[in-house]
Amino acid sequence: MKQIKFSWQHSGVVQDRIQETGERLKGECERIRAAWGAGYKDEYASLSLPSDGELLKMVQELVAKKLQLKPAVLVVIGMGGSSLGARAVHNALKSSATPLVYFVDTLDSRYCKEVYQVCQAVLQTGNEILVAVISKSGTTTETIANARLFMRLLDEHNKPYQEYMVAISDEDSLLWKVARDHQISCLSVPKLVGGRFSVFSAVGLFPLGMMGFDLSVLCDGAQSMKESCSNTSIMNNPAAMSAAILYDQYQKGLVIHDTFLFSRSLRGVADWCRQLVGESLGKADNRQGKRVNIGITPTVSMGPEDLHSVAQLYLGGPYNRITSFLLVPQEDSFEVVADTPFDELVPMIRGKSFAEIMNAIERGTRKAYEHDKRPFMLIELPELSAYTMGQFMQLKMVEIMYLGFLFDINPFDQPQVELYKKETREILDHE
Ligand code: PA5
Repeated sequence: MKQIKFSWQHSGVVQDRIQETGERLKGECERIRAAWGAGYKDEYASLSLPSDGELLKMVQELVAKKLQLKPAVLVVIGMGGSSLGARAVHNALKSSATPLVYFVDTLDSRYCKEVYQVCQAVLQTGNEILVAVISKSGTTTETIANARLFMRLLDEHNKPYQEYMVAISDEDSLLWKVARDHQISCLSVPKLVGGRFSVFSAVGLFPLGMMGFDLSVLCDGAQSMKESCSNTSIMNNPAAMSAAILYDQYQKGLVIHDTFLFSRSLRGVADWCRQLVGESLGKADNRQGKRVNIGITPTVSMGPEDLHSVAQLYLGGPYNRITSFLLVPQEDSFEVVADTPFDELVPMIRGKSFAEIMNAIERGTRKAYEHDKRPFMLIELPELSAYTMGQFMQLKMVEIMYLGFLFDINPFDQPQVELYKKETREILDHE
């Protein structure tokens, strides 16, 4: 199988320094290796998802059952970690064979109305929809408001929830209980697997299975990272190496991490990374309870459009950012058309393909970064596939675990997000 390639030579951190941090990470590498596949008993629980054959079977069975309904539209209702993972893979790999998919992770009236009306039209023409409601806690305001909206739609078309709805939640949640009471099909999320680490649980697997992706290949990709991402020799461990570099640069004031893409198909994956970094590492207190207000600020940039926008800031502005170029081979598509009145404009593109021009732009961008001593790492995916998505997402989740250790914070909780949820409920309660 083709492997992801990770390059660190332009990261601005020398090998000795990376190895020094590697010494600190050794124990953590061993802990991660021991936890990988060992069950859902501690905070590393998500590492046991990709090799959980029982989980895969359970999800595949429900997918097969619900696909018999032949839904024309799949509505995925969920927020943050209950949505972004499936969306990332869908965005990267979508094909015309998949049902029309809507991720409903907002209460923006215009968007919700648009999805609602599409579903209404589908139902009115005698076709089917399937609604997946995903919430680990089971009480996220946005999710439940949308779930109720689509329940009414199903009711209006005499489509029983038992058939046309699936709930994915924590087994102790209120959503789980109510869904069970109404015989709605349920899939559980292991208690110690947090939202943003849950893409290889039913949270990601069920919707992706409904979209027709090969779930076992996705999980195999993730599982294949075990050896390298828990290797105690840091130069052979891309997750630990990237963490060591980000940590070192953070100490030097490079507090922003930009994921720079040249493929729109990777946008969803970069947005997923953004949540993973922001929510896992942005913490008020460290593990000792000391106020630290720490966190790497994740940003996403897209070439070539952002080269005509924020790249001026990146190359001319403050030295407060480290970049990861996330690359995938461009597909061969169009050639630059000849024999037009514009042939004399930009003559050097004559005879070139769009892919060749994009590659030149990407390499030119990296040269400019090098020239201006702007540090960067390089992650090259050999292809866009379920396998490489599994590999990349697993690598990033493990990287975050190493960063959590280095920053001495808990990367698995999100106390301030809980705070906004609580405040919102209080406002809604009193108005
Ligand atoms: O990663 C996380 O934990 C969060 O982004 C949650 O996924 C998000 O807040 C939604 O929570 P829930 O799945 O409980 O509805």
